[in-house]
Amino acid sequence: MFTPDRLSELTPTAKRVTEAVGTTGENWNMSAAPKQDPERSVFSDYDYSNFYYGAGDDPVNLLKPFSTWYKEALPAGYYLYSEPLQSAPTTEVRVRNRKTGEVQDLLNLASYNYLGISTREEVKEAAIEATRQYGLGASGSPILSGTLEVHNQLAKAVADFKDKEAAIVFPTGYSANVGFISALMRSGDTIFCDQYAHASVVDGAILAKSKTVFFRHNNPLDLERKIKGVRGKKLVVVEGVYSMDGDVCVLPEIVEVAKRHGARLLIDEAHSTFLFGPNGRGVAEHFGLDKEVDFHLGTFSKSLGGQGGFVCGSKDLIDYVNAFGRSRFFSCNLAPPVAAGLLAGMKIVEDEPQLRTKLWSNVAYLRRRFAEEGVDIGKSTSQVMPVLVNNDSKVFAVAEKVQDRGLYLQPVTYPAVPKHKSRLRVSVSAAHTEGQLERAAQVIAGVLREEGVCRT
Ligand SMILES: Cc1ncc(COP(=O)(O)O)c(C=O)c1O
Repeated sequence: MFTPDRLSELTPTAKRVTEAVGTTGENWNMSAAPKQDPERSVFSDYDYSNFYYGAGDDPVNLLKPFSTWYKEALPAGYYLYSEPLQSAPTTEVRVRNRKTGEVQDLLNLASYNYLGISTREEVKEAAIEATRQYGLGASGSPILSGTLEVHNQLAKAVADFKDKEAAIVFPTGYSANVGFISALMRSGDTIFCDQYAHASVVDGAILAKSKTVFFRHNNPLDLERKIKGVRGKKLVVVEGVYSMDGDVCVLPEIVEVAKRHGARLLIDEAHSTFLFGPNGRGVAEHFGLDKEVDFHLGTFSKSLGGQGGFVCGSKDLIDYVNAFGRSRFFSCNLAPPVAAGLLAGMKIVEDEPQLRTKLWSNVAYLRRRFAEEGVDIGKSTSQVMPVLVNNDSKVFAVAEKVQDRGLYLQPVTYPAVPKHKSRLRVSVSAAHTEGQLERAAQVIAGVLREEGVCRT
């Protein structure tokens, strides 16, 4: 049993938590908890990080304090997370409000589906046909019985689209990063990650047991400082478009530093494949650096509104990942209807480049309107636009008002973004009309002004 005299054994954070809540969480009392600002609700003085390290010897000690906090956090704003949609994630959605139980019709700016493809008839028909042919699931690991013809067709289509020798498909983008990075890198190697790299990159590095070094976001000079003199195998990991900030990787400079120091480069194009570059291959193609980047990774969940991840490159690389990508081969293969729907979606991307044109004109429209209204979207130049609130409690008030006025958008706070960098994350789609984007700009700017966040 953990007793107070053993406090010195704990890490500083665990010690602070233990002192506050007692060794079994018995002292946790929300009303007695210190408030930074009397106007603010207690829930906003805490977030998930306060419940990360438990006190005592029992892993369940934090459940009660967490549940006490969560009961207060839920009606105060956390109800906005995981609100169940009652319709497809297109530009207009029907949502059940988790606080009131009421069903609302909202303008959707929260789903990826950047090209509006996921509900196209051709995609749905392909998925239905595959369900008839193959049934629901793959019923096996891809290296045992779970590879169906449709999976091979999808891998070939991805390789062709990305103009690579071969590709390999994972059940999700998350598992692609985890599986690929841990397949390639080992203990004793070094992984250099942009500090804003997605959690799946970080988790891949943890699983690889390599030394992980974070360099400042999109900062090749900091990468240079950190990589200089490091010996052994080195992997640099960047994203094409950063998922929470919507800024584009400064790839030419990153490539230059990585090459000069003999490091290999992985680009995660989750938010840029099918959108950037003359053929839609991604940010590497956009910069004419497709061949300079060693490893190309992407997802089907964003631009195609589907599911699954992929890596592409040389045949040797893909054979190796097939053998060592544990997150793939210890998991069931992608559901066949999804694989078939993705094939149909990729055909639309190739046949209809005008979808990309429409997306970029929508992005330009909303960027201009946000600029006119004084809405700060940071360094975003893409379809991902963070509406910066930078106040971890106010962001919930903003999000609630925005939803009350007809927009479907959630607050994004720590740990998805750094503390005090909270925001609403807007996803623009080719399927939005200018009228819808105009409505969004007006509602968002109006609420920000009322909440004292907006400049004008
Ligand atoms: C940059 C990046 N990589 C990987 C992923 C994981 O992709 P998926 O949601 O397809 O698992 C995400 C998801 O948000 C992401 O933003």
